Amino acid sequence: MDADVGNHHTEYYGFSYYFCSSTCQQVFSLDPDTYLGMQMQRFHDRSLELELVRKETLECLSRAAEFKDNETGRHTSRIAAYSHRLSLLAGLSPDHAARIRETAPMHDVGKIGIPDHILLKRGGLNTAERKLIEQHPEMGIRILGTNLRSEIMQIASTITITHHEKWDGSGYPYGLREEAIPVEGRIVAICDVFDALISERPYKSAWPVKKVRTCIDSEQGSHFDPALASLFVQHFSDFVEIHDQFRDIAHANG
Ligand SMILES: [Fe+2]
Ligand SMILES: [Fe+2]
Repeated sequence: MDADVGNHHTEYYGFSYYFCSSTCQQVFSLDPDTYLGMQMQRFHDRSLELELVRKETLECLSRAAEFKDNETGRHTSRIAAYSHRLSLLAGLSPDHAARIRETAPMHDVGKIGIPDHILLKRGGLNTAERKLIEQHPEMGIRILGTNLRSEIMQIASTITITHHEKWDGSGYPYGLREEAIPVEGRIVAICDVFDALISERPYKSAWPVKKVRTCIDSEQGSHFDPALASLFVQHFSDFVEIHDQFRDIAHANG
């Protein structure tokens, strides 16, 4: 009976419902080990279900962000992989790096709130349009919510609000400087710029790899955390490899 209950999901839930009914007599007729085993299985099933819901919800939000910004691209997949790699190079724990990998794709979720005619405009933006685009980190926070209690959503929120801050304080929205910018935001900032430069976009062609490397290198201590940018440049080929692995489909085919 023990094995049957543990291995058959439907049958198990049938028993579970039975326990919740008023016929408690049946519960107490089971031996304690069987009852405990069933409860453990139930806990395990629910944990797996919650983990799946969490993962799929994060992926859904990430796709929503990407769909709005670059529907043929794989920018968010690349940002996840670059951010994970740079987190590990920076000595963050594997758990922390994994959480950054999961949440980094949401960095631009606030772009959902930017009108298409501005977000997808080819050519230069005027001052008012640029100011509106620069509101996307704050719009992202409005989407993700405030007073978040889960660690994963707190990291998502941190990345969303800080990925356009700059080491020298000239970024937005708050003009944070140096280590006042959380490490998650500093990591995604480098990866985001790298991907924008090395990829073709509607408004620009892809920069040559060498020029991208020079740019990241030259922004150490101004745009980027110097220690992180230095690691990025030292392991530059890893990031180029990730880019090629997740190359935009339209470009890879054509
Ligand atoms: Fe952004
Ligand atoms: Fe981005």
